Amino acid sequence: MARVFSGIQPSGELHLGNLLGALVNWVKHQESHDAVYCIVDLHALTLPKDPEELRKNTLELAQLLIAVGLDPQDCILFIQSHVPEHSQLAWLMECTVSFGELNRMTAFKDKSGRNEFISGGLFTYPALQAADILLYDTDLVPVGDDQRQHIEITRDIAERFNTRFGDTFVVPEHVIPPAGARIMDLQHPDRKMSKSELSPTGTIGVLEPPDAIARKIKRAVTDSDSEVRFDHVEKPGVSNLLSILGAATSTDPLSLADSYERYGDLKNDTVEAVIQLLEPIQQRFFELQADPGETQRLLQLGASKAQEISSRTLARAKENSGLLQP
Ligand code: TYM
Repeated sequence: MARVFSGIQPSGELHLGNLLGALVNWVKHQESHDAVYCIVDLHALTLPKDPEELRKNTLELAQLLIAVGLDPQDCILFIQSHVPEHSQLAWLMECTVSFGELNRMTAFKDKSGRNEFISGGLFTYPALQAADILLYDTDLVPVGDDQRQHIEITRDIAERFNTRFGDTFVVPEHVIPPAGARIMDLQHPDRKMSKSELSPTGTIGVLEPPDAIARKIKRAVTDSDSEVRFDHVEKPGVSNLLSILGAATSTDPLSLADSYERYGDLKNDTVEAVIQLLEPIQQRFFELQADPGETQRLLQLGASKAQEISSRTLARAKENSGLLQP
């Protein structure tokens, strides 16, 4: 069975972009593939974090992922820092990627521009991400559109390592969904919806109550004419609503556009679809929150399964690169 791997950072509340761009695909793949999913807490440390908040966010994210539909019986779900192979392989990856390649990463330029303290880890972030993926002999990586460059650099690193040291890693492909790969901010449809605090009215959190969701979607920026058309350039706000509705109902946003004549109807249906999607997730999450010990137990189990696979790959990579065995 083909192996699928993906990761998500525990940095603030899960939002609709994460859900529609990536997690819906994670859930789908766990049934048909050998799926491994990771909460990347080490990646979260690349920007300053409050320790207590990070710990809380990490556990809550695990509960949310289970609530969204990941079943630890059907997939391996674990926390990155529980499997030390990730940081160990990351060093070999850092020594395989070039400074120039890291310097061209748009995510680094973006984040370093917005933060006062720029850590070395923020710069070498893609090497750790490559380690995450390559440790599991991954064939497919389900992600949103913003991760394209990270998967591309992972492929380059794997190919370079294989050329230098012989066949060691599987070279992975990304899987990007047809609708929902790029959910934009509701107030600024020219930038992606993100966990950042900059735009609380433009981001929909997965745990938000229905009235807040309705308010945000109804106030979403559209434009001054009234034609419903799927056109990212001329009509970014309307297209974003069509993408959300399309991804939430598994419908093609292009064909959805033909069924609407007014923005109001499109907004009403989007509100309804998003609330219907989120309600059962919220309910399951609140149930899981009552028993954090059970989630911890599942994560421990996930980490030991993940280590079984990743320790073999790490040993192969160390051997091939010429490190003396202890
Ligand atoms: P992160 O935590 O920012 O996002 C998790 C997933 O959500 C997707 N996503 C979106 N999709 C559509 N529209 C949006 N507005 C939107 N915002 C986020 C992301 O594409 C991602 O799939 N670097 C990664 C974490 C990572 C990883 C990995 C991913 C670390 N190691 C290995 C895959 C494989 C990140 O920061 O994702």
